[in-house]
Parts: sequence; C-alpha cells; structure tokens
Amino acid sequence: MTRVLFVCLGNICRSPTADGVFRELVREAGLAGAVEVDSAGTAAYHTGNPPDPRTVAAAARRGYDLSALRARQAVAADLARFDYVLAMDRSNLANLRAIAPAGGEDRLGLFLAYAANYAEDEVPDPYYSGPDGFELVLDMVEDACRGLLDEVKRRGG
Ligand code: 4NP
Repeated sequence: MTRVLFVCLGNICRSPTADGVFRELVREAGLAGAVEVDSAGTAAYHTGNPPDPRTVAAAARRGYDLSALRARQAVAADLARFDYVLAMDRSNLANLRAIAPAGGEDRLGLFLAYAANYAEDEVPDPYYSGPDGFELVLDMVEDACRGLLDEVKRRGG
C-alpha cells in the first residue's frame, strides 16, 4: 500500500482538490486498492467542514466529486503513516516540518514538483481570488497528479 496525503492551509480548497483528482486518477489506473489518498490542513479553522462551495463546483465541472470530503488538521502521526506528504506551498511545508517527528522529514515535499507544465513550485491559495483562481488550482493539480501517479507506479505502488 502506498499512502499519499495532500496538505494546504485550510483543507477546504487546494488539498481537497488534489485529493479528489488523485483519487480519480488512481481509480482509473486500477490502483484504488493499492493507493490510499487523503488530505489535511495545517490550520484547524475549518475542521469538520466540507470543501469550499467554489472548490466543489469547479471540481464538479471537470467530473470530480469532492462532496464526501471533510476538513481535518494535519498531525505529527501523519508524517509516520503517509509515504508522501505533499504541501501546496512553502508555508504549508514549513508548518509540516515543524511538527514532523524524527525521520518523518524525508516523506515531505512540495506537490507541484511533480508537475510537467509549471516551473513554479507553489499552488496559489484561491480563497480570496476570483473564479480564475479555482481553475488555475485545478490545472496545476491535474498536471502534478499525473506526474505523481507516474512516480507511484515507478516505485511499485
Ligand atoms: P486552502 O485555502 O488552504 O487551499 O484550503 C484556504 C482556505 C481557508 C483559508 C485560507 C486558505 N482561511 O483563511 O480560512
């Protein structure tokens, strides 16, 4: 089993998008039983809440169902449980490093490092943006998820 955790700040916009998109790619690849997918936020503001309605709607237009997701805060145990703990931006990564137990740091990285078409390494926070922000998140997430799936397959996931 390969375990993948996507992490942003609130766990209501970027990481739920990555969760839903990657879950779908994994399902299409026939790997649903071999790859566990989850998401979390470094902050607890939205714990227990569904993703932002703008995130749910934008994802649904591309065929991804995020309606079952609920926000939770990332905890130190996640750095032991998940093989990949992928942060949406540098701030998320720094916050994860701060709670990582010894030996947990090597699982940590920036999600956008897996993208083929984006030179930048952060997925911009769309929370205070207009609708274009949510489309950009989806474009980036779809790209990086394809690269990540290739990596998981290469590593035997
Ligand atoms: P996310 O976006 O980190 O992509 O889920 C945000 C959601 C909520 C807030 C900030 C970012 N907030 O400040 O409540």
